[in-house]
Amino acid sequence: MCGIVGYVGARPALDVVVEGLARLEYRGYDSAGVAVLADGRLATAKRAGKLVNLRNALEEEPPPAGTLGMGHTRWATHGAPNDRNAHPHTDCTGAVAVIHNGIIENFAALRSELEEGGHKLSSDTDTEAVAHLLENELRSSGDLAEAMRRVCRRLEGAFTLVAVHTGDPDLVVGARRNSPLVVGVGEGENFLASDVAAFIAHTRDAIELGQDQVVELRAGGVTVTDLDGRPAETTAYHVDWDVSAAEKGGFDYFMLKEIAEQPRAVADTLLGRIGADGRLTLDEMRIPDQELREVDKIIIVACGTSYHAGLIAKYAIEHWAGLPCEVELASEFRYRDPILSRSTLVIAISQSGETMDALMAVRHAREQHAKLLGICNVNGSTLPRECDGVLYTHAGPEIAVASTKAFLTQLVAVYLIALYLAQVRGTKWGDEVFAMVQLLAQMPDKVDKVLETMEPVRELARSLAGERCVLFLGRHVGFPVALEGALKLKELAYMHAEGFAAGELKHGPIALIEDGLPVVVVVPPRARDVLHDKIVSNIQEIRARGARTIVIAEEGDTSVEPYADTLISVPAVPTLLQPLVTTVPLQVFACELATAKGHDVDQPRNLAKSVTVE
Ligand code: F6R
Repeated sequence: MCGIVGYVGARPALDVVVEGLARLEYRGYDSAGVAVLADGRLATAKRAGKLVNLRNALEEEPPPAGTLGMGHTRWATHGAPNDRNAHPHTDCTGAVAVIHNGIIENFAALRSELEEGGHKLSSDTDTEAVAHLLENELRSSGDLAEAMRRVCRRLEGAFTLVAVHTGDPDLVVGARRNSPLVVGVGEGENFLASDVAAFIAHTRDAIELGQDQVVELRAGGVTVTDLDGRPAETTAYHVDWDVSAAEKGGFDYFMLKEIAEQPRAVADTLLGRIGADGRLTLDEMRIPDQELREVDKIIIVACGTSYHAGLIAKYAIEHWAGLPCEVELASEFRYRDPILSRSTLVIAISQSGETMDALMAVRHAREQHAKLLGICNVNGSTLPRECDGVLYTHAGPEIAVASTKAFLTQLVAVYLIALYLAQVRGTKWGDEVFAMVQLLAQMPDKVDKVLETMEPVRELARSLAGERCVLFLGRHVGFPVALEGALKLKELAYMHAEGFAAGELKHGPIALIEDGLPVVVVVPPRARDVLHDKIVSNIQEIRARGARTIVIAEEGDTSVEPYADTLISVPAVPTLLQPLVTTVPLQVFACELATAKGHDVDQPRNLAKSVTVE
């Protein structure tokens, strides 16, 4: 949500900023704006809608060329997504401009105070209050960084703020609390952004900023302080992917590229985690083995697709590590009374590492003294910093809003964690863990094989573009796969789609079945004979009631053939690993169907990649 870019250096700032905003488009937004400082004057431009509207406005009325600027893509929270509410916002004098990501919770009180003090606010946003508060502070100190520190001390909620001021035309100031902001360190130029994708074309050296830190950015250097002005500790890192990873590479959509990258992403996530002796070594786990032996319960918290990875993790953890495992929507977790103790391990799964619901759940668990482990795809994001240990997925940048390759790598991460717990706690013999790890190592090839056989799935998807509803059924780990298939279809094709546990059919959902209704069924491997046979009966039941059955089953499973209107075969793999191959056809299905309906699959309506508000 909201993309932020700041630049100071020698290049034309407008070009750098607009290019950076384009790279952040995937985060989701509904208006865009820029500010440039040139010849001591502040010029701003902003437009509702996509970046192209802003680009057109800038072409019609180009701002003066300057080498310091900032830009913003806004995902509306307070106030409609129109030109007026788009960022940057300025103060009464027009000397200060501010952009913001997050929600300032006490903005109503601040706004009244400002209006009583004679300020004229012209938008409906919470952000504009900050511009006017900075105006007040600058009257006394004249120092933008100090003004920002003072203002931040008054703010409640979550924010990344970036501000510029005509009084100091070489300075960009940023601040963050509960919302992402990274520094890109160049030579004679520096960058600020919501994530590294915005400046990766210029530098791969980054600094992650901590909570309540204020950064002063000049062409020649970067200074970071806490809110009291004391020098703050920061972590510098080198980004291990380059600009080509953040580009489409010949595909029409990022989503297509990311689906195709899955074999590589799965392989990379396994890389370096299997020692020469066949034992798992999860270096970043950082929770001592002794503490893992003392764990008596696991709770997984996550949202959306990551939550589905959590649901699959439960099966693996309970089966291999013999530990009770609960899975909870992160957004619900802290609003009940979860029973946690020092011997509870809370695993938070988040591709972005910035999902506010997940971060809040982690903080709640921290207060209850639980141990915290993060599974995250973005180095330098907030979640890993707030956890005791982390397991990074190596999916590379995921740009399309709908998660695909990150999901598969999250599955790999949870399998690794489950097997690692089994190894440490002795619930599986070393050779059993090793055997399973070897099977995991075969998964990139299996996923590749699935991808090679997707043309009939694409054809099927195109033929269903006129349908209004699709149901998905699964059992065991196939149930979360069904949920994931339905979520992909909802978010990309804007169709009604529901996932059900097939055993629940007779408890209600079977009433939905009518003539011609497409129902996708994920069939467990034949080796799970009881489950397998039960779901084959379910397929017969729905077909008898007119459903059009689309069956995903392992190669050679002839028992489903008589009942499948369409059969999608996937390579045979062990039951627990099956989601790695059964999810892929569902991703392709949703992507193709949405494309056939003319939707932009990279940026579905109303959605944001990184959900940084609760
Ligand atoms: C769906 C999707 C979302 C995310 C959810 C959590 O395709 O991408 O449901 O999975 O918003 O995001 P992260 O994993 O970044 O916490």
